Amino acid sequence: MAEMIHTSMFIFLILQCVRGFLVDSTTPKNPGVITDKHYIAVMDLLMEERQARHLLEQVVTNLQQKVQSLDQKNISKHAQDISALKLQVNGLVATCSLSQTNFGVLEGKFKDLEMNYTLLKDENQILSQDVSILRQTKSVVSMEHLKQQVQATSNKVNQLDYNNMVRNQDIIAISNITRQNQLDVKTIDHKLTQQITSVETEFREKSRNDTVVHRELTEALNLKIANLAANQSTQVATIAQKNYPVALTAWNAGGDVTIGGEIKFNEVKTSTGIRNLSAIHSTGTFTAEEDGVYMIAVTVNSGTNDSGFEIHKNNSTLSQVYIQGTAGDNDQSGTSVVSTELRMGDLISVIASGGSREKGIVHVDKGWSTLSIIKI
Ligand SMILES: *[C@@H]1O[C@H](CO)[C@@H](O)[C@H](O)[C@H]1NC(C)=O
Ligand SMILES: *[C@@H]1O[C@H](CO)[C@@H](O)[C@H](O)[C@H]1NC(C)=O
Ligand SMILES: *[C@@H]1O[C@H](CO)[C@@H](O)[C@H](O)[C@H]1NC(C)=O
Ligand SMILES: *[C@@H]1O[C@H](CO)[C@@H](O)[C@H](O)[C@H]1NC(C)=O
Ligand SMILES: *[C@@H]1O[C@H](CO)[C@@H](O)[C@H](O)[C@H]1NC(C)=O
Ligand SMILES: *[C@@H]1O[C@H](CO)[C@@H](O)[C@H](O)[C@H]1NC(C)=O
Ligand SMILES: *[C@@H]1O[C@H](CO)[C@@H](O)[C@H](O)[C@H]1NC(C)=O
Ligand SMILES: *[C@@H]1O[C@H](CO)[C@@H](O)[C@H](O)[C@H]1NC(C)=O
Ligand SMILES: *[C@@H]1O[C@H](CO)[C@@H](O)[C@H](O)[C@H]1NC(C)=O
Repeated sequence: MAEMIHTSMFIFLILQCVRGFLVDSTTPKNPGVITDKHYIAVMDLLMEERQARHLLEQVVTNLQQKVQSLDQKNISKHAQDISALKLQVNGLVATCSLSQTNFGVLEGKFKDLEMNYTLLKDENQILSQDVSILRQTKSVVSMEHLKQQVQATSNKVNQLDYNNMVRNQDIIAISNITRQNQLDVKTIDHKLTQQITSVETEFREKSRNDTVVHRELTEALNLKIANLAANQSTQVATIAQKNYPVALTAWNAGGDVTIGGEIKFNEVKTSTGIRNLSAIHSTGTFTAEEDGVYMIAVTVNSGTNDSGFEIHKNNSTLSQVYIQGTAGDNDQSGTSVVSTELRMGDLISVIASGGSREKGIVHVDKGWSTLSIIKI
C-alpha cells in the first residue's frame, strides 16, 4: 500500500514538472515574432516532452506491473493488519483523551493543594507567634508548678528505680534458689542413680546368689531325700525287727555258785528273736540285742542255809531275793520279776547272795531255777 502511495506521488511530481516546462519565464521583447531562440526552445520542449512521455510510459508500465504483482499478492492480510492498527490507534486516541481529562483533574487538585499549603503556612506563622507568646507567659506563671511536677516525676522515677532494684534482688534471690534447687535435684538424681545402680547390682548378685543357693539347697535336699529313702528302708527293717518279739527261757545247769558270783543260765529252753544264742550258751548271761522294755523273771531253787540272789542290770542291782534262812527237808525257791528298759548291749545277770554271810556258796538246783526274759 505504502509502495502504491509512493508511486502516485512520483507521477504527480513528474506531471508538475512537465507543466513547468511549458511556461516560459522570459517574456519576448516583440510579441508575435518567432525567433531562433523560440524555435530552439520549442524543439527543446518537444524533446523534453518526448523524453517525459517516454518516462511516463515507463512509469505506467512499471505501475501496471506493480498493480499486477499487487493483485497477485494477498492484500487481505494487510487489510486485516490495517484494521487492527486502526483499532489500536482508536484505542490510543481514547486513552490520550482520558489522560488529558485525568491531567486536568490532577491539575485542579494540585492547585487545591498549593492553596492549602499557602493557608497552612499562614496558620503556622500565626501558631509560632502564639507559641512564643505562650512560652513567655508560661515560663513565668507555671514554673513553680512545673518544678513541682518535675519533682514529683523524679520522685516517681526514684521509686520506680528502687522498686526495680528490689525486684532485681528478688530475681537474683529466686535465681539463687533455683540454682540451689537445680543443684539439689542434680545431687538427688545422682544419689538416686547410685542407689538404683547399687540396688540393681545387689539384686543381680542376690538373684545370682539365690540361684546358687537354690541349686545348693536342691542338691542338699536331693541328697537328704536319697538318705531318707535309704534310711527308711533300714528303719522299716529295724521297726520290723523291733516289733518282732524277743523271748527267752533258760535253765541253770545246777551246782554251787560262790557268793557274789554269777548264777548262769546256759541251757536255753525256748527262745524267740535272739540272734546270738551261742553267746547265751557260752556266757549264761542275757545281752540285749534290741532296745526296748523288758520283763525279767528269775526263780532260784536252793538247799543252802542263808541263800538269796540279786538281778543286775550291768553293775546296778534291780532286785534282791532272800530264799531261806535254814534249809529243811525241802529246798526253797525264790522268785523275782522286774521290768526295765534295756539298750542294745546291756547285760542282765543273776548274782548269788548269802544273806548275812560274806563267804560260802549258794547251791542251785538244776531244773528248778529259771531265767525268763520277754520284750514287751
Ligand atoms: C488470502 O488469505 C486469506 C486468509 O489468510 C485466504 O482466505 C485467501 O484465500 C487468500 N487469497 C489468496 C489469493 O491467496
Ligand atoms: C484542602 O483543604 C480543604 C479544607 O481543609 C480540604 O477539604 C481539602 O480536601 C484539601 N485539599 C487537599 C487536596 O488536601
Ligand atoms: C546469691 O548467691 C551468691 C553466691 O552463692 C551470693 O553471694 C549472693 O549473696 C546471693 N544473692 C542473694 C540475693 O541471695
Ligand atoms: C552373695 O554371696 C557372696 C558369697 O557367699 C556374699 O559375699 C555376698 O554378700 C552375697 N551377696 C548378697 C547380695 O547376698
Ligand atoms: C541315715 O542313717 C544314718 C545312720 O543310721 C544317719 O547317720 C543319718 O543321719 C541318717 N540320715 C537321715 C537323713 O536321717
Ligand atoms: C555272739 O557272742 C559271742 C560272745 O559274746 C561273740 O564272741 C560272737 O562274736 C557273737 N556272735 C555274733 C554273730 O554276734
Ligand atoms: C561291773 O563292775 C566290775 C568292778 O566294779 C567290773 O569289773 C565289771 O566289768 C563290771 N561289769 C559290767 C558288766 O560292767
Ligand atoms: C543248817 O542249819 C541247821 C540249824 O542251824 C543245822 O542243823 C544244819 O546242819 C545246817 N545245814 C548245813 C548243811 O549246814
Ligand atoms: C553295760 O555294760 C555293757 C558291757 O560292758 C556296755 O556295753 C553297756 O553300755 C553298759 N550299759 C550301761 C547302761 O552302762
